[in-house]
Amino acid sequence: MSNPAVRLCPMHALEDPGSAVFALPGGSAKLQIMVIRRGDAVYGYMNSCPHTGGPLDWLPGVFLDLDKRYIQCATHDALFRIVDGECVQGPCAGQRLQAVELRCAGGWVWYAA
Ligand code: FES
Repeated sequence: MSNPAVRLCPMHALEDPGSAVFALPGGSAKLQIMVIRRGDAVYGYMNSCPHTGGPLDWLPGVFLDLDKRYIQCATHDALFRIVDGECVQGPCAGQRLQAVELRCAGGWVWYAA
């Protein structure tokens, strides 16, 4: 039997497109999830760049580039596709962010532990 899902935030609290960061439910304080919203879809990844393992956000919860088309790492500017987390430009090209399963239901974003 799987663990129960955890509510992260109301969908309307996320800009469209936009992003936020949350502590990983049940994880250590250092483990964070980035949540990216685009339209009615949300995408979740661990806040850990495949290049160095460091966090990607520019400011807490700010992950998108200026055009809001890619996730951009604040340390060395790697660009990642929002839909699958693959790095398309930068020192970790071809590598992927670690995906986290999220879903939208009842106007909320849920983390499926
Ligand atoms: S730490 Fe992310 S690109 Fe270097």
